[in-house]
Amino acid sequence: MKRRLVPIGHSSVTTPKLGLGTNKVGGHNLFPELADQDGAAVVKTALDHGLTTLDTAYMYGLGRSEEIIGDVIQNYNREKIVIATKAAHRPEDPKKIDNSPAFLKASVEAALKRLQTDYIDIFYIHFPDQATDKAEAVAALDQMRQQGKLKAIGVSNFSLAEIKAANQADLVDVVEDHYSLVHRDAETTLFPYLRPHQISFVPYFPLESGLLTGKYGPADGAHFKQFSSKRYAAILKAIAQVRQIAQGYQATVTQVILAWYMANPDLALIIPGARQPNQVLQNVKAFDVPLTPADYHKIDQAFQLDDV
Ligand SMILES: NC(=O)c1ccc[n+]([C@@H]2O[C@H](COP(=O)([O-])OP(=O)(O)OC[C@H]3O[C@@H](n4cnc5c(N)ncnc54)[C@H](OP(=O)(O)O)[C@@H]3O)[C@@H](O)[C@H]2O)c1
Repeated sequence: MKRRLVPIGHSSVTTPKLGLGTNKVGGHNLFPELADQDGAAVVKTALDHGLTTLDTAYMYGLGRSEEIIGDVIQNYNREKIVIATKAAHRPEDPKKIDNSPAFLKASVEAALKRLQTDYIDIFYIHFPDQATDKAEAVAALDQMRQQGKLKAIGVSNFSLAEIKAANQADLVDVVEDHYSLVHRDAETTLFPYLRPHQISFVPYFPLESGLLTGKYGPADGAHFKQFSSKRYAAILKAIAQVRQIAQGYQATVTQVILAWYMANPDLALIIPGARQPNQVLQNVKAFDVPLTPADYHKIDQAFQLDDV
């Protein structure tokens, strides 16, 4: 039950509910102080300990994250690994977003080379552009699927209207967007459409960039400028409640938060990022937290922060 597999949309892809986010694997353009060997060690540790679904993107190091993953997976059974990657940023100017069919098809081919594999499990359009008809963009990926180059089609950072436009022919399997216990908009904006259309949802920033690990305190509010001081204080209060619950499981705040996401039927796959292998080793233990329905409910209530 704990490591049961869930399907991704209508596709043949199945995955355990916990995987690895890899924007700190080779993502030098986003996090300048990264070392490639740490990234490779993070991926190896994940694969060795059962986090076999990897979420990457061209944008993470402009191909470097995919290259590091491609090198590491040569020593593993490819069929046991699920690789999700994304594209939309033009290499000559990554600020330019392109969803044109020709660009997406070329991006799939380039990602296959960097990943040193002959198929991609989940391919996302990373961001929407303004120009391309979204149904045509997805149809291009469907052609790549028919050629066996990818298995599931995803869109990321799309508004509900853009998702609907992309999904006119029921070709979208999965949506990836910002969601965490302190950023729950998707529950009302996206889930009511995704559920009946059997589109899976993958939340990014599940640990809210480290805040939901419980390692930050009242003096660290400046790291999280997106929250007012009042909301930041309310979040810390909710985390303190999780810490109490975690003690009952001899687990950490992070492990219990990840277990909450895994127990949430609206979330298909949780992809916490990691900078170091020891974080992966900590996070994978979330599989072993037998969160009770009562504790699930308590955490749900603790993070009803709408009025703050
Ligand atoms: N589709 C999109 O547009 C999009 C956007 C953003 C992210 N993503 C994907 O979503 C994934 C998750 O997002 P994210 O990695 O940015 O944020 P996150 O999962 O919310 O937070 C991950 C960060 O928290 C810290 N951390 C993780 N485990 C920890 C532990 N056990 N103890 C202490 N600290 C820990 C690490 O950062 P420090 O060590 O630096 O504190 C880690 O990099 C990404 O890796 C990426 O694959 C997708």
